[in-house]
Amino acid sequence: MADRRDVLRMGVLAAGIVTPAVAATPALAGPRLERDGRDRDRRRARPLVIGHRGASGYRPEHTLASYELAARMGADFIEPDLVSTKDGVLVARHEPEIGGTTDVAARPEFAARRRTVLLDGVPVTGWFTHDFTLAELKTLRAVERLPQVRQRNTLYDGLFTIPTFQEVLDLRARLSKELGRRIGVYPETKHPTYFRDLGLDLETPLARVLRRNDLDHSGAPVFVQSFEAGNLRALRAEHRLRVPLIFLTAAAGNPFNDPRSYADYLTPAGLRELSAFVAGIGPEKNQIIPRRPDGTLGSPTSLVGDAHDAGLALHPYTFRAENQFLPVDFRVTNDPNAYGRAIDEQITFLRAGIDGLFTDQPDIGVLARSLAFAAAEDA
Ligand code: G3P
Ligand code: CA
Repeated sequence: MADRRDVLRMGVLAAGIVTPAVAATPALAGPRLERDGRDRDRRRARPLVIGHRGASGYRPEHTLASYELAARMGADFIEPDLVSTKDGVLVARHEPEIGGTTDVAARPEFAARRRTVLLDGVPVTGWFTHDFTLAELKTLRAVERLPQVRQRNTLYDGLFTIPTFQEVLDLRARLSKELGRRIGVYPETKHPTYFRDLGLDLETPLARVLRRNDLDHSGAPVFVQSFEAGNLRALRAEHRLRVPLIFLTAAAGNPFNDPRSYADYLTPAGLRELSAFVAGIGPEKNQIIPRRPDGTLGSPTSLVGDAHDAGLALHPYTFRAENQFLPVDFRVTNDPNAYGRAIDEQITFLRAGIDGLFTDQPDIGVLARSLAFAAAEDA
């Protein structure tokens, strides 16, 4: 019987995302053929390039323009973070708080909506999607979240609306036809317990929208991700979602309202338990290759091997080209906002055995992947 990873790979292969020549896993390929590392490399599925919040290195995040650019740059998947409006519609925003990613603060008609909420136990002040109907949110315009880092992206401030999840799926369908390949969608449920407590559960509309778009089956080009294991369990057991699920992990702490830490989940035993309901994990990249105390890139942990042994894929986050996000030894100048050796960083992680990566600059991810594979062929 195929294990979870085989199912995941078959689903991705059926989605047309994996090159057939390199897609077979040992379980699918029959007797082991490898004579050396090159054979193993050829059989591994091609790692996925996931456009993190679209192509957020080049456009304000979570806008249709950002997702479209990611697809045109070659991303296999586009990644919307999902939150709910007051009237229960899923929209793409990084957080329920929208003061930093829209022009809401400049809208006098919404000034009274500013308030403080307890978000996963942390007080947060601002404007929240769940205080706005979809019609009201649609009057807002997106702005660059990191204007000091990505000043060029402020060129697009005020041009784009907040997209609904349905609009992201419509874009995905249109671009898949136009580009002649199936673009995948990789939604994340943001703060699912928080939204459930507000009476706005994310799971029900997520399952409904996926099914309405014929995207809830094992061959669909979809992953659903969450930082809450309980949310993923519910999506599988109660909502009967059939697409592969990915458990996101942080370098420290616990999922909200969960006595188990992320570190507990990442032990070999924890990974085996996870494999009962998820197809993979999305670790913070430093959990795969930590940095040394001086900020340079250290040696890989056992996480790739441990996860693969449990039948789980790994899609770490977040690869960004600017120096400030890179290990010290991959930085090029003292300008924190200038680009460093991001291609080399990604090649290093790809060679460590990851199965995909979230990146703000999908064009760099595509290039790094091609170079990493070319290097394996030449070895
Ligand atoms: O979903 C992968 C990555 O995006 C998780 O972190 O906070 O950027 O959504 P965040
Ligand atoms: Ca995300």
